[in-house]
Amino acid sequence: LDNGLALTPPMGWLTWERFRCITDCKKYPNECISENLIKRTADRMVSDGYLDAGYEYLGIDDCWLEKTRGPDGRMVPDKERFPSGMKAIADYIHGKGLKFGMYEDYGNLTCAGYPGVLGNERLDIQTFVDWDIDYLKLDGCYIEPKEMDAGYPSFGKLLNETGRSILYSCSWPAYQEDAKMLPDYGSIAEHCNMWRNWDDIEDSWASLTKIMDWFGDNQERLAKHAGPGHWNDPDMPDYGSIAEHCNMWRNWDDIEDSWASLTKIMDWFGDNQERLAKHAGPGHWNDPDMLLIGNFGLTVDQARVQMAVWSILAAPLLMSVDLDTIKPEFKAILLNKDIIAVNQDPLGQQGLRVWKKTDRGARQRLEIWNRKLQDGSSALAFVSQRDDGIPYAANFSYEEMQIAQGEYEVQDFYKDEGVRHWNSEQDFEVRINPSGVKFYKFIPKTSRATSDAYASSSK
Ligand code: DGJ
Repeated sequence: LDNGLALTPPMGWLTWERFRCITDCKKYPNECISENLIKRTADRMVSDGYLDAGYEYLGIDDCWLEKTRGPDGRMVPDKERFPSGMKAIADYIHGKGLKFGMYEDYGNLTCAGYPGVLGNERLDIQTFVDWDIDYLKLDGCYIEPKEMDAGYPSFGKLLNETGRSILYSCSWPAYQEDAKMLPDYGSIAEHCNMWRNWDDIEDSWASLTKIMDWFGDNQERLAKHAGPGHWNDPDMPDYGSIAEHCNMWRNWDDIEDSWASLTKIMDWFGDNQERLAKHAGPGHWNDPDMLLIGNFGLTVDQARVQMAVWSILAAPLLMSVDLDTIKPEFKAILLNKDIIAVNQDPLGQQGLRVWKKTDRGARQRLEIWNRKLQDGSSALAFVSQRDDGIPYAANFSYEEMQIAQGEYEVQDFYKDEGVRHWNSEQDFEVRINPSGVKFYKFIPKTSRATSDAYASSSK
């Protein structure tokens, strides 16, 4: 979306992943979605260096509303948890030099069951403007995904007409990818003579009927592709339109606080990168969801993986963690300036998973992620999804790493290793902790490496 915002991936903090829909402030005074949580987070973002590092948006996700609208039809913030009202919160946040993010849902209700905007779009936008918000996440529960193709752009247009600069974060493709918008059979039919659509058949009546049922149930979207005809499938999310109308968009599943969820999301973004990455750039970004770093589910090594891969993906960096109690080793990851610089690189080119290999069972996996940076250098993350015990050593050629031939200075972003000098005539050796990452900056030292790197980055 060309509204002058999000020229680099947005950075900030959001309530949802850590605090969800905790509303009982008597039982959980430090965790409920409330003024207290927002204010103490604002204080921490400033005093502990997060704002200086670039994390500027402080956002409230779901569960801030009363269950019913006011007599004038307006949204009403929960009176017990937000007794001062949202304008006061906005003033507090702005007083700290931060920006204020809010959440609503395009449907009848939010996912947690609070009033959505449908039917009240203009009034709600006016209310948000009256509250001086700077960022709006518009979720997509309780609305048909098909209606989003028109609905999200028209809501965005109204938002834009207010004249206030509001970053527009859409969940539009997440619901289309998830619920409705299925494989692009148009493209499949164009490129293949036949295609396996679904599960492996097994030697049983149960398996045979399961497969027959599936083909019957899905015949409307399948049958039309089994022969000459029109090959476009209107069921795919239209990322061109999404990028035109939103500053960022959640593509897929909600992230959960676990390595399994993190790697599932990484795998999906890697598997779908060809159709996603080209839509990222200044003003418009794919969003693989919040950072889990500092919560309960990831080890330090796993947290380093998320920070590395999110920076390569040019993903919004939205923390969701208790900043009062976060442990220093996780805080250091979130505040790693060199990695943030990769994420915020002005070229704005989303990086790719350029190599992967899976041994003996799906989880014994190594992969290389590569992002070209504006200064001609490259950020490369060597990720191990292996869980077989000890650090794993591997050697890679420049071709596997998809890096130009030449000499490089190689800097370790996590500073476990000193600077290396590497010549692409040799393989590059890494040793990666189980479910961990080695993350390096490759700085070209010869004109050949520099010009090749520029050539490939401007493709
Ligand atoms: C679904 C979204 O994907 C989450 O990030 C969160 O906003 C919840 N809805 C809130 O109900």
